[in-house]
Amino acid sequence: MAAQRLGGALVFIGFMGAGKSSAAREVAQRLDVRAIDTDRIVEQRLGCTVEEAFARHGEARFREEEERVCVEVLGRVGAGDVVSLGGGALRSEATRAALARHTTVLVDVDLDTAWSRASGRGRPLARDRAAFDALYEGREPTYRALADAVVPGSERGAARRALPWLLRLPDGVRLLWASARSGSYPVLVGRRALEADPWPAPGRRFLVSDETVLARHGERVAQVEATIAIAPGEENKTLATVERVQRELALAGARRGDHVVALGGGVVGDLAGFCAATYQRGVPVVQVPTTLVAQVDSAYGGKTGVDLPEGKNYVGAYHQPVGVLVDVGMLETLPPEELAAGRAEVVKTALIAGGSLWERVAAGHFDDEETVLACARTKLGVVASDERDGGRRQVLNLGHTVGHALEAAAGYGALRHGEAVGLGLLAALRLSGQDALRGQVRELLEAAGLPTALAAPPDLDGVAALLARDKKRVGDDVPFVLVSAPGDVRHGQAVEAAAIRAAVQELAP
Ligand SMILES: NC(=O)c1ccc[n+]([C@@H]2O[C@H](COP(=O)([O-])OP(=O)(O)OC[C@H]3O[C@@H](n4cnc5c(N)ncnc54)[C@H](O)[C@@H]3O)[C@@H](O)[C@H]2O)c1
Repeated sequence: MAAQRLGGALVFIGFMGAGKSSAAREVAQRLDVRAIDTDRIVEQRLGCTVEEAFARHGEARFREEEERVCVEVLGRVGAGDVVSLGGGALRSEATRAALARHTTVLVDVDLDTAWSRASGRGRPLARDRAAFDALYEGREPTYRALADAVVPGSERGAARRALPWLLRLPDGVRLLWASARSGSYPVLVGRRALEADPWPAPGRRFLVSDETVLARHGERVAQVEATIAIAPGEENKTLATVERVQRELALAGARRGDHVVALGGGVVGDLAGFCAATYQRGVPVVQVPTTLVAQVDSAYGGKTGVDLPEGKNYVGAYHQPVGVLVDVGMLETLPPEELAAGRAEVVKTALIAGGSLWERVAAGHFDDEETVLACARTKLGVVASDERDGGRRQVLNLGHTVGHALEAAAGYGALRHGEAVGLGLLAALRLSGQDALRGQVRELLEAAGLPTALAAPPDLDGVAALLARDKKRVGDDVPFVLVSAPGDVRHGQAVEAAAIRAAVQELAP
């Protein structure tokens, strides 16, 4: 898996109701070939529909024929061919092995959508909701493990738009197609992600980065027209730096048809993204995240901006990137304390996702490529459902309400964003009444090399004043994100001021 094989076909996999056949058809149409649907071939061989085959011959007989057909088809197809496999076909080891030569595209669907599309149509495995849910949970890990690319089944035309990258994925690079109302874009994850072909934006490349990152990884971005360096650190995420970068863009002759490449951590990504959002009323930005925070979180979703002395991220704009290129190898030069800071965002994301990501992270896999990919997928899924923070996206603020206030109270730069988020997670879990889970997260944060207490007693009044200025505040309440269990997270929960003070006080050294 995870490699574009020369001579391989595009093979669409996924759960029933995901939209595999339609995705395969639209891609095949673009390539001017006919999509091969293995379910239809099995039906021809058995002389009846899948439903009838289950009823007449039983599932085992159907699977036998399905395996024969899949192995045969996957053995003979090659470059330019498009295939869609039945949802259960990957139970067969022989079929999984036969996939190795091809580029496997998972058409992603959430459980509720899958059920609404598949049930009530006579499908033998979509009659009972509990059994359907169990089947979904059981098959998901196999789909994920085999996927070279993931496209959302909810966005019509996503596979077609992703096609240029699907056809030329560099070896070992995986693709996630990010879907948002204001634009969808490729996310490439792998050591050769920066060799993206095509590059996600036409025009000339204007590289914005910080001095530290430029010294270590600047040469990784090829064909750069001009390079603009900023000083590293949150304290430089300001309007003054924005003005300097934008004036340098102007002096270097950047025009509307050009684009910004943001190479760096969340500070560079947010700042360069904001410069791109506003320079000449908007030019595209390609995000190349180099910290764990940026690779699992800040590079996706289009929130850009800078801080004011009065509040963090107080000035900003939504500006989706046109592509995100993620090389986990770049984390090798990251100082340990910065890696640890990113692990807090990983723990947060795992709490939101639950399931296999939570299990991975709870087992201590904080920053390998699989975890980064799964975190990116979680964030993209949330953003796809609510780009502008009107609802579900707010769950991404888990741990951030108190975290931001602690960060600002300490003075930007004194407490790393990730460290503050880790402490914020502990406060949020206390406010959620989840003592056992709080204990588990505390241990995880310790194992990740993160502080689980403040260095000095908190300034409770200062934190309360900062919470009162929280951007998410509605009326008198600061809405919190609370957790019932990993994977069960609710936003917009009102919490009493006294409880917040107690949860913050508990973080005292
Ligand atoms: N937009 C969003 O959705 C979003 C989400 C989360 C966080 N953020 C923002 O992200 C920022 C924090 O980002 P961060 O933690 O990445 O901090 P950062 O960008 O300040 O990077 C941390 C330090 O690591 C250095 N560095 C970066 N990559 C390196 C590498 N590969 N090797 C060696 N050194 C490297 C940088 O020079 C810097 O000194 C905050 O401003 C936060 O508000 C934004």
